[in-house]
Amino acid sequence: MQKPEFDAKYKEHLQRKILDLKKKRDALIVAHNYQRDEIQEIADITGDSFALARAVTTAKEKVIVFCGVKFMAESAHILSPDKTVLLPVEEAGCPLADMITVEKLRRKKEEYPEAAVVCYVNSTAAVKAESDICCTSSNAVRVVRSLKEEKVIFVPDKNLGRYVREHVPEKELILWDGYCVVHMRLTREEVIKTKALYPTAEFIAHPECRKEVLELADYTGSTAGMIRYVKESPHKEFIVGTEKGIIYRLKRDNPDKEFYVPTEQFICANMKLTTLGWLARSLEKMVYRIEVPEHVAAKARKALERMLEVG
Ligand code: 13P
Ligand code: SF4
Repeated sequence: MQKPEFDAKYKEHLQRKILDLKKKRDALIVAHNYQRDEIQEIADITGDSFALARAVTTAKEKVIVFCGVKFMAESAHILSPDKTVLLPVEEAGCPLADMITVEKLRRKKEEYPEAAVVCYVNSTAAVKAESDICCTSSNAVRVVRSLKEEKVIFVPDKNLGRYVREHVPEKELILWDGYCVVHMRLTREEVIKTKALYPTAEFIAHPECRKEVLELADYTGSTAGMIRYVKESPHKEFIVGTEKGIIYRLKRDNPDKEFYVPTEQFICANMKLTTLGWLARSLEKMVYRIEVPEHVAAKARKALERMLEVG
């Protein structure tokens, strides 16, 4: 095993190399809140899916390096087709996005021709192209409320869909049977046990968690929503109901507060694929370029732009 001083030096070396390459390539590095600490440290922008989608639309740089998963890089390319969008690790996907296909969605639309289709951004570009409007976990309730249709096919995350249904009872939501494999790992029992260990801590959770877990939450929201909530809360201790990567930012913004994870399994392997080494290689070799064919992108862009208008 390498000595820690060596690791620190190597990390510094790679970070310096990335910053030099970034300048040379005229690139913007964006990173999701679940990325490794050392990636978040050097990113130009960190945020939730919504903030990152919006940030790329105003970027001045020619190249966007997306430290996240594929659907996020696809959305970046759809919204900014004139830019080069790079995903440092080609295999970084999202199992939730793969739980629906265009063919299956078309069949569902035939079953409910009067319904609007709301598509969580954790989906492929092709599925977005079949949808009326996109949403993220930060605006799903607002997006569904904004629709004139009373019936809504909500895809692909059933937990987020159920959460929206509770907040917009005037609409009829038809839910898809998709879920996030990482958030589904957290059980109600684990939360209860952690609450017993830290009785004064508040429990904050992502809406991709199971219903019985969300019932225990003091706050439910997107990763950016959780970051905001913790900053504004007078509480000093928090049990974090989402991927562990968020703790880097929570600690950075709140050095006087404590954070506990209810399960050590709260790691998204796909988000963790991006390392400093892969990021440096991505900028050096200009890989992997994420491009969405224009006939798909044009339709998906409408759904994404309609979401951005709702805010
Ligand atoms: P946020 O948009 O809340 O950051 O969530 C993205 C995601 O992939 C959750 O698993
Ligand atoms: Fe996909 Fe879940 Fe990972 Fe988010 S945490 S990227 S929804 S697998």
